Amino acid sequence: MSVIGCGYLGAVHAAAMASLGHDVVGIDVDEGKVADLTAGAAPFFEPGLAELLEDGVRSGRLRFAADPAAASGSEVHFLAVGTPQSDSGPAADLRFVDAAIDGLLPHLRPGAVVAGKSTVPVGTAARLARRIAESGATLVWNPEFLREGWAVHDTLRPDRLVVGAEDSPQGAAAVDLLRRVYAAAIDAGSPFLVTDLATAELVKGAANAFLATKISFINAMAEVAEAAGADVTLLAEALGHDSRIGRRYLGSGIGFGGGCLPKDIRAFAARAEELGRGQSVSFLHEVDAINLRRRDRAVRLVVDALGGLVFGRRIAVLGAAFKPFSDDVRDSPALEVAVRLRGLGADVLVTDPAAIENARARHPQLGYAASRDDALRDADAVVVVTEWDEYRRELTPQHAGGLVRGRIVIDGRNCLDAEAWRAAGWTYRGMGRR
Ligand code: UDX
Repeated sequence: MSVIGCGYLGAVHAAAMASLGHDVVGIDVDEGKVADLTAGAAPFFEPGLAELLEDGVRSGRLRFAADPAAASGSEVHFLAVGTPQSDSGPAADLRFVDAAIDGLLPHLRPGAVVAGKSTVPVGTAARLARRIAESGATLVWNPEFLREGWAVHDTLRPDRLVVGAEDSPQGAAAVDLLRRVYAAAIDAGSPFLVTDLATAELVKGAANAFLATKISFINAMAEVAEAAGADVTLLAEALGHDSRIGRRYLGSGIGFGGGCLPKDIRAFAARAEELGRGQSVSFLHEVDAINLRRRDRAVRLVVDALGGLVFGRRIAVLGAAFKPFSDDVRDSPALEVAVRLRGLGADVLVTDPAAIENARARHPQLGYAASRDDALRDADAVVVVTEWDEYRRELTPQHAGGLVRGRIVIDGRNCLDAEAWRAAGWTYRGMGRR
């Protein structure tokens, strides 16, 4: 099989498929990335990936190439290129998807299967199916639901596998081929759902829309709780015991970011608009707005806690990644809070166990500290914006208190034990907590 596009999704998919015994070539236009992957080096922080890459390359089942011709001879071609937000608006930019198909077309043989994994606006698969029809290959849509930090697990043991195909003998044969590709996961209990092309594309968009809505729901409750003198973390716990609601994705704080949820809900709404159903998902604009307000709110809490002015004050920002177990800073709410505080004239020192280099590349104007304790030293206030264990579990208020100048902590992820910090003499402010 070939995997076209070796970014987050593709690199993990290629390595995971090789670990299952498949013969895999990963293809990417970026020669540097191809060289790194060939050397077994993971291009980003992802637990378990480096081991899979090394094993795969050593076994000879996994190789990487920059030339699309390396795809010829594969029975199945996974399309795993990125679909970023377009420069001109909320819609997805499909440039890389179309370029991947352009590169693949001369190497497609009759009977081959092209399995789209990229997150695309509904209707894209049908269009791509028409583009490849002449080659005699068949297109199916097989969306990917992996979470960063859990990517290897999510690829090898997904919650569900979804394959969308056209209702034809070729479509059925392509579905059977994917069933064989994923036999290990299916045997281990992952449900395998067969749909039409449009439904498969929609599942992905709808899943992300739902998750984003759930997070913004609890953050909206945080706004209300704040005004009412209630505590959103207790509220979430109580709601979560209702099995119809569930506790997951009810984590309140500075909201969601990353390379997927923010852009995917915008692209989803934009596509619905094109389909004449903008009203059906107009709530997603509110979901986005609630989410972005959380960043303002965190900045406001810091400013208020420092008496209305942050100019010249030293602020330790614990976290830069959009979530723990990731070095990804794309649309990171953590980093945005740091940037805004810097914009207000604060002397910001950002630290993160994994994401400092990526953060520095995007925001060289910020101050960076290599360690948590270096960031804390002489700080007038501490802001926790990514809930790494190093901050959430391992940092005690006593230890931090011995380093800082001012015992003020703003818990942007509601991940600290408020009582313990207060008992140690800290002014503690959470997001939507008393
Ligand atoms: C997400 C989806 O989970 C995944 O299925 C899809 O394929 C891609 O997008 P990912 O971007 O890796 O995956 O991140 P996720 O773990 O879902 O977290 C997204 C953001 O939401 C993070 O910034 C996280 O901090 C935030 N979040 C998550 C909350 O603010 N509260 C929560 O309760 C959960």
